[in-house]
Amino acid sequence: MSTADRPAPPETSGQVGILRAVQRRYSAAAQQVEPGLCCPVQVDSAYLDVIPAAVRDRDYGCGDPVSHVRPGETVLDLGSGSGKVCFVAAQIVGPRGHVIGVDANPDMLALARPAQPEVARRLGYSNVTFARARIEDLRLDLEFVDDHLARHPVTSAADLATLQEYLDRLRTGSPLIPDRSVDVVISNCVLNLVGEGEKRALFGEIARVLRPGGRTVVSDIVADRDVPAAMRADPDLWSGCYSGALRQDRFLTALIEAGLHSATVLERDPEPWRTIGDVKFRSITVTAQKSPSDVDGAACTDPARSATCGC
Ligand SMILES: C[S@@+](CC[C@H](N)C(=O)[O-])C[C@H]1O[C@@H](n2cnc3c(N)ncnc32)[C@H](O)[C@@H]1O
Repeated sequence: MSTADRPAPPETSGQVGILRAVQRRYSAAAQQVEPGLCCPVQVDSAYLDVIPAAVRDRDYGCGDPVSHVRPGETVLDLGSGSGKVCFVAAQIVGPRGHVIGVDANPDMLALARPAQPEVARRLGYSNVTFARARIEDLRLDLEFVDDHLARHPVTSAADLATLQEYLDRLRTGSPLIPDRSVDVVISNCVLNLVGEGEKRALFGEIARVLRPGGRTVVSDIVADRDVPAAMRADPDLWSGCYSGALRQDRFLTALIEAGLHSATVLERDPEPWRTIGDVKFRSITVTAQKSPSDVDGAACTDPARSATCGC
């Protein structure tokens, strides 16, 4: 069959449209405050004085995972946005701790990065770094990728093979967030934004980067029932933190399937944040642990293995 006989697939899939909508929404929300985007909670005001107003004002969270970190810890914040949560964490972990904020959006990083030296000056120590990556692929530093593409644009299938080989080398030889390198993974209102096909990889990444004995504390929006397909195909509802929301039981199961244990709900808003159609959306904060003996971060699907690692 010649290529002329075969129909060309559409240029983009629905998931690409959703990804672009998320990118556009948070670029705009970085440039101008969008009131009502998520449902931020009050942070202890003692932590706010050192944080520049432009960062403080762009709080698009839905809970308070950062109050669960401890002095001296290495913290990874998934979807760090303007950096507010990272700068609060910086003060809790103190000069012996370290905070890494990861976000895929260059406009959010353009807010967070210039604030970092200012916060460091006011605190008297520097312990926060920001990086650009997709949180479902934390090995891949997107700034390396952009730099490579500027020097080696992809204009042929051969170029594409070269790029794929470079990406593999980056992930294995120079991972942005190495295996077992983080004490606590936090996130505030971001996991719901990751595409349906990438959610499993996302939970796997949380388990991979945690050190044995580490934990995750995540605030996110959950739905009281599976979000209907029509709502999931709506880019505005997706980028507004609704359509990608998991059911609470599926959220906890995803953590367990990634190899973590003791998945527990720490907080659950009694009232829904919003009701759309017959779906109630509310904020929860959950935690899960990585077993101290789980050295490879793999999921405990093997009963023999789970008996030894205690998950
Ligand atoms: C609702 S905002 C929350 C920001 C921040 N956590 C806060 O509490 O203000 C979502 C953030 O996640 C980022 N984001 C969305 N999807 C992402 C992905 N797949 N990888 C990395 N960052 C992502 C967006 O760019 C945005 O900054």
